[in-house]
Amino acid sequence: MTTTLDRLKKEVTVTFEQMTAIAADFKSAMDAGLTGQPSPLKMLPSYIGRPSGRETGQYLALDFGGTNVRVQLIELHGDGRWTVRRQTAAPLKDPAGKYDYTAAGATAAELFDFLAARIASIVDKDINVRLGHTFSFPCRQLDVGHAELISWTKEIRTAGVEGREVSALLAGSLARQGLSRIKPCAVINDTVGTLLAAAYTDPAADIAAICGTGHNTCYYDAGKAMIINMESGNFDALPFTAYDDAVDAASEKPAGQRLEKMVAGRYLGEIARLAAADLGRTTPLTLTAETIAAWLADPAAPTDLRTIAGLAVTRAARLVAATFLGVLAHSDPGLTKNHTIAIDGSLYEKMPGYAAALKAALAEKLGGAAETVTLRLIKDGSGVGAAIAAAIAHPSGGR
Ligand code: GLC
Repeated sequence: MTTTLDRLKKEVTVTFEQMTAIAADFKSAMDAGLTGQPSPLKMLPSYIGRPSGRETGQYLALDFGGTNVRVQLIELHGDGRWTVRRQTAAPLKDPAGKYDYTAAGATAAELFDFLAARIASIVDKDINVRLGHTFSFPCRQLDVGHAELISWTKEIRTAGVEGREVSALLAGSLARQGLSRIKPCAVINDTVGTLLAAAYTDPAADIAAICGTGHNTCYYDAGKAMIINMESGNFDALPFTAYDDAVDAASEKPAGQRLEKMVAGRYLGEIARLAAADLGRTTPLTLTAETIAAWLADPAAPTDLRTIAGLAVTRAARLVAATFLGVLAHSDPGLTKNHTIAIDGSLYEKMPGYAAALKAALAEKLGGAAETVTLRLIKDGSGVGAAIAAAIAHPSGGR
């Protein structure tokens, strides 16, 4: 069946009323998750509070998000500044097809040995240093330094990691490479890293989100004096279209991560492809977020494809805005304080129209009070955030 552009517009537009309802449902889901009732929001404790900004020392940061692994040796100066002394990055899936540590055929040991080898490539074997690990998946946190992977998201399938404690897996691989002097001491989510990086310099930072390949938000819970990783990508009280149901059905974990499958870069291209096909448009077999971004940036690209791309991107921004409104309604209903929402990720940084639509959606709902909310791009929060987390866990630095 084919549809018309007008019908498609109607279906893929998130109205003001829908945004309001989503914000309210999101707030209820936060409350339910925090009190142990059934909820799509896992509300995972991080056992980490806010940094003072005075954390100092040299730490290793390992960033594992699902696409690349990055290792950095970071010096925190204690006045809101830091220096990256050394760094290296590598894809988890070789573009030439020689290896893929994210596939079902790869084992936990292979994956973590690869991570340890990347660490070995930038540090001397006799270095004594603490390591902060940004591991960007839903984890049951045992304490600051230990976390068990609950389940993979973002279509990762590596065997034998779900249910395992990731610091132990990493420590095992470090030992095999003769790197036992490197001590993993903090495991955090990338949203938490982004919040730590922002709060290192900005006392108003209390919400952080990743709007990139995946999507998730954390916030600082003043009552618990702790950052909570909501795993908001799993939120599911949403106006699904047939395209969303198709994307979900074809995914690695149907029924899970429904918000993420509507808003994250990993899925936006496929949503646009299905919508274009519905209009009777021939498109490439796979569409990526990069292609959509290219259409939006090119006034000479076909108008209907640009319209579809714009609709998908605007919808993503408005859904995410609705969840931010839910967090604000939970934490500070009267908006009596200033809030900085720290955001990292390729969509927020690069997708034409995304950041503007997010800001506009907040203003549409909050009116003048939107002045109390600042959206701030934080690049590389997963790196420096891991170093800050390690410094909070082990203030003495390497020793
Ligand atoms: C996925 C993960 C989440 C992470 C997000 C962004 O949603 O489950 O933990 O924060 O991607 O990388």
